[in-house]
Amino acid sequence: MSFPIKEIQTKPFEGQKPGTSGLRKRVKVFQQEHYTENFIQAIFDSIAVKDSTLVIGGDGRYFSPETVQTILKIGSANGVGKFIVGKDAILSTPAASNVIRKYKATGGILLTASHNPGGPNADFGIKYNVSNGGPAPENVTNQIYEKTKTIKSYKVLEAPPVDLSKIGEFTYGPTKVSIIDSVADYVSLLESIFDFPLIKKFLHDHKSDFRVLFDGLHGVTGPYARALLVGSFGLSEDSLQNCTPLPDFGGGHPDPNLTYAHTLVEVVEKKGIEFGAASDGDGDRNMIYGKGAFVTPSDSVAIIAHHADAIPYFKKGGVKGLARSMPTSKAVDLVAQKKGLEYFEVPTGWKFFGNLMDAGRLSICGEESFGTGSDHIREKDGIWAVIAWLNIIAAVNQNSSKLIGINDILNEFYSIYGRSFFSRYDYEEVPSDGANALVEHLNKALESGSLNNTSHKAVSSSKEYTVSGLYNFEYKDPIDHSVSKNQGQVITFSDGSRVVFRLSGTGSQGATVRMYVERYVGPEAGAAALAEPAAEGLKSLIEVALEISKLKEFLGRDEPTVIT
Ligand code: G6P
Ligand code: ZN
Repeated sequence: MSFPIKEIQTKPFEGQKPGTSGLRKRVKVFQQEHYTENFIQAIFDSIAVKDSTLVIGGDGRYFSPETVQTILKIGSANGVGKFIVGKDAILSTPAASNVIRKYKATGGILLTASHNPGGPNADFGIKYNVSNGGPAPENVTNQIYEKTKTIKSYKVLEAPPVDLSKIGEFTYGPTKVSIIDSVADYVSLLESIFDFPLIKKFLHDHKSDFRVLFDGLHGVTGPYARALLVGSFGLSEDSLQNCTPLPDFGGGHPDPNLTYAHTLVEVVEKKGIEFGAASDGDGDRNMIYGKGAFVTPSDSVAIIAHHADAIPYFKKGGVKGLARSMPTSKAVDLVAQKKGLEYFEVPTGWKFFGNLMDAGRLSICGEESFGTGSDHIREKDGIWAVIAWLNIIAAVNQNSSKLIGINDILNEFYSIYGRSFFSRYDYEEVPSDGANALVEHLNKALESGSLNNTSHKAVSSSKEYTVSGLYNFEYKDPIDHSVSKNQGQVITFSDGSRVVFRLSGTGSQGATVRMYVERYVGPEAGAAALAEPAAEGLKSLIEVALEISKLKEFLGRDEPTVIT
């Protein structure tokens, strides 16, 4: 059928600058007349749109179905050749990355604000990914931003709305539209990576002493987890909770950490469940949490790398290199050193891993912010991490007479490599002035060298830390040689401990300050010292970090909002 194309006059909106993870604002902002349309037209003005193939997906949050219709109308009017759309506007971020790669699409538009709450009074987001399946690099997002500043009109196809609930292919004006199953391609991808029969057998043999609980936090991963845990591995529906995606995530904060995923933590502890896991709104983050056993994301990536041979994808293809974001603990570096692998320290943000993967130099990487993944796609992948852990656990139990669980795997790892005690303190939505003053204060100390070699005693333990260095982290990409400056302020201490201060780049209101603390204890310290609760192992260092930074003074906060 042919439909008319109409050009609609508009005026630029301020502040449509996409960050690392796209344009994220309150829903009410996106609902202003022309606001969303402007941004979408700016995307099409910034890419080779003629005859392109574009994927549309997202976490199903409030305002997604409307926005898919807007993208279809504007995209078709601008010459998109084909749209591949997840049924009901749903494709998790990792699933979308896979679909872009698998069908060799030009790129994809993801409707998500990741782990931020959703609903009419919460957040919405639009993110553009490029043909490698990863987030658009800065030259593309800058281009989109430039276009939003001068936009005068946008084009729409005047066609009735598309039914997003019916799988199939049809024409929509000059454009083909294919509505696809949101889950199927992703499940076959994971089948090609992991040892499904081994996992299935292990879970079947240990029905009663190794129970699994996955919490979808009402985000997008529920249907994926059901297809895998129930469909592929034969577990019962009891292994799932909060697995129906809801537009407002049930009013919760869909972020898998000890604070926001308390629904998981409570049930795991109450029922003594051996293996618990959760993922965030759009499915790229993960948390692994069994009874009395919390795996910090920094340890998680290191342990997956240590056991990589248990995973067929790595056994076959080999592990090319390892990487972490700067604030992530150095546990994975130790694995790389032991295995003789190349390893990298990049700024916070998954996009920094993409170039290394495309260049064939990186296989497994992770971030302290509950992101773990590999070069199977170009986003971090929550469900991948959960299945990686199940695969590893199934493998190490193969010839064992007694059940080896999460804590056994952690302790064995610490006995080989030592332990990097790690914690992050988040001060959310603090006044921007205070946050900037804190950054200033540290920059001054950095420039003057005033803190170097100063010693600081923790009040509670009288343990002393001596500052050995202070610097602003800067990264030069080894592939495209681009330089990223001011990626976090690092204070190092003479015992190898480290504290990092960084402003969050993903908040939508005020500023969020993150303080990361890390203290390494070698394997010679012995099992008891290595198994100490992280809060204990880090107490003195945290006191010292707070004193040096004067954080409480600058932010006017006594306690952090979230501790992970
Ligand atoms: C997103 C990115 C991650 C990054 C995180 C940092 O989740 O995908 O790669 O680690 O943001 O968030 P922050 O709030 O610390 O800037
Ligand atoms: Zn996310």
